[in-house]
Amino acid sequence: MSTLLVIGASGLLGQHIAERGKQRFERVIGTYHANPFQIQGAGVQGLDIRSAKTVSELLEREEPDSVILCSALTGVDYCEEHPEEAVALNEKGPLNVAKACNAQGTKLLHISTDYVFDGKRGDYKETDEPNPINIYGKTKLGGEKKVLESTPNSIIARICVVYGWNRNTPKKNFVTWVLENLEGGEPVELFDDQIVTPTYADEVADILLRLVQKDVSGVFHASGSQKVSRYEFGKHIAEAFSINLEKLAPVSMQEVGLPAKRPKDSSLIVRKTEEELNIKMRPLPLSLKHMRENR
Ligand SMILES: NC(=O)c1ccc[n+]([C@@H]2O[C@H](COP(=O)([O-])OP(=O)(O)OC[C@H]3O[C@@H](n4cnc5c(N)ncnc54)[C@H](OP(=O)(O)O)[C@@H]3O)[C@@H](O)[C@H]2O)c1
Repeated sequence: MSTLLVIGASGLLGQHIAERGKQRFERVIGTYHANPFQIQGAGVQGLDIRSAKTVSELLEREEPDSVILCSALTGVDYCEEHPEEAVALNEKGPLNVAKACNAQGTKLLHISTDYVFDGKRGDYKETDEPNPINIYGKTKLGGEKKVLESTPNSIIARICVVYGWNRNTPKKNFVTWVLENLEGGEPVELFDDQIVTPTYADEVADILLRLVQKDVSGVFHASGSQKVSRYEFGKHIAEAFSINLEKLAPVSMQEVGLPAKRPKDSSLIVRKTEEELNIKMRPLPLSLKHMRENR
C-alpha cells in the first residue's frame, strides 16, 4: 500500500498536499504540531520535528514511501527576532527528518523558499547562487543544505508567496488578508517595489506530489511563473473577486520599517519543473478565478 506522510499538514500548503495526496497515494498521514486538524480519509498524528527520536519512531511505525516536509517557522519578522527558534525549526528539524528518511530509504521532498536569494536580480534559476539577507532565508538555506547532505536523492522545492483557502486555522495569507480588508472596506497598502512569483497552494500541491513520485532529486523551483509586484498582485485579486480597486494603494518597502529585510525581486524561473513534468504553470488570474470558484 503506497503511503504518503505530510509533515506540517495543518499548515496552509500541507493541508492542500494532504487533500490532493489522496488521489495519488493509497494512504495519507498528516502531522500537526499546535493545531490539530481533520482531513477526511487521512490519518492524523501530532509531531514535533525538533525531536529526532519522535521523528524516527513515526517513520519506523508508518513506513511511508514518500515524505513531504512542509513544517517551518514561516514568520519572516518573527524569525529575525527569534533566531534560535528559526534554527531549531528550519535547520535542525529538516535534518532530523532527512536522517530518518535516509535510514528508512524513504523519498523526501522538502519545501524551501525564494528568500534564499538576495533579490538583487530576480528571475532566479536552480543553478543560481543563494545569498539570503534575513534569518528566515538563512535558516531555510541551512535546512536545504542539511537535507541534501543527509539524503542526496531528496528533492528541494522552492516556492514563493503561497496563497489559497486555509480551511484549518484562522491564519491569513496574502490573498485572504487582502480580501478580508478590501471586502471590509479597509484601505490596503501594498509594496510596489517587491517582485514575486506567487504560488497557488492547490496547484502546487499536485505539482509537488508529481515530483515526489518521479525518480528525480535536487533543487526545483515550483512557484507560479508570473512575476508581479505585491501591488499588482493586489490588483489581480480585486479584479478576480470583483472588488473595487479604490482602496488599494502602492507603498514602497523602504517607507515601511520592518524588522527583517526583504529581497526586492525574488522571482523564480520554473522552466525546469515545467519541463520535467511536461506542464505549464497556470496564469495568476486563472488561479485566482479557481480560488473564487472554490470559496
Ligand atoms: N507561506 C509562504 O508564503 C511561503 C513562501 C515560500 C516558502 N514557504 C515554505 O512553504 C512551507 C509551508 O509554508 P506554509 O505557509 O504552509 O506554513 P504554515 O501555514 O505556517 O504551516 C507551518 C506548519 O509547520 C508546523 N509546525 C510548526 N512547528 C512545528 C514543529 N515544532 N514540529 C512540526 N511541525 C511544526 C505547523 O503545525 P501547527 O500549525 O499544527 O503548529 C504547520 O503545520 C514552509 O517550508 C515555508 O518555509 C512558504
